[in-house]
Amino acid sequence: MTESELTSTTRRQNSVGPIAIIGGTGLDRLESLEITRRQVVDTPYGSVSAPLIHGRCSGQEVIFLPRHGEKHQIPPHRINYRANLWALRQSGARTLLAIAAVGGIRRDLAPGRLAVPDQIIDYTWAREHTFFDAGGDPVEHIDFTHPYCAELRAVLLRAAGDVGLAVAVDGTYGATQGPRLETAAEIRRMRRDGCDMVGMTGMPEAALAKELGLCYACCAVVANWAAGCGGSAISMQEIERILAPAMVSVARLIERVTEIG
Ligand code: HPA
Repeated sequence: MTESELTSTTRRQNSVGPIAIIGGTGLDRLESLEITRRQVVDTPYGSVSAPLIHGRCSGQEVIFLPRHGEKHQIPPHRINYRANLWALRQSGARTLLAIAAVGGIRRDLAPGRLAVPDQIIDYTWAREHTFFDAGGDPVEHIDFTHPYCAELRAVLLRAAGDVGLAVAVDGTYGATQGPRLETAAEIRRMRRDGCDMVGMTGMPEAALAKELGLCYACCAVVANWAAGCGGSAISMQEIERILAPAMVSVARLIERVTEIG
């Protein structure tokens, strides 16, 4: 995509509404957001993780939603992904940037690294994973060949270059059920399957966004080596230690993404 195509794509996206940021572990607030209002949304699918935070970032309208709730109290398998995505779309967002902590499987995805995945393998189960649930005439089957929005991925990669962040430009995100972490054998299997990183929230979020026709991409933040890939056991303390500075980079990236708009 050329520079001018990229800019016109971004303008087109922004002209149809605010950009939504779904914050994950380590990003329950967005410091750079000048908050204008909080919105509690009722949805046909139940409760949203938290009130939507509306505001402005670099002059661009932004809606922020902490995926795990305001107090980081909702585990990955209990997140109401349908309500979250429905509420964001209902509020006018057509572009969704998901921030997600992951474990690194591929050798270059060391703790602290950022990545913009381009593929997904779904290992989750028993989650409400579709809006097309009630039967239909005809039955709906969305195309999910390319799970992430190419335009938003391009904007993310350009923004990363602009602010001098070394970001992995691709990768397959393996979505696991959680909340426990994986066994070493599970990660070996995921590596054989082609997974480059592992996280617990990437699905059904990406598929639901596609069902709603939203432009959705993910900025993955490597919090730890996946089970068996590093030397030591995975601890939440270590994950927090890695995520704190990485999220400063993510905040810079988000700011640049909104500036490009
Ligand atoms: N596995 C699954 N999800 C994760 C991990 C992991 O190692 N790290 C952060 N989220």
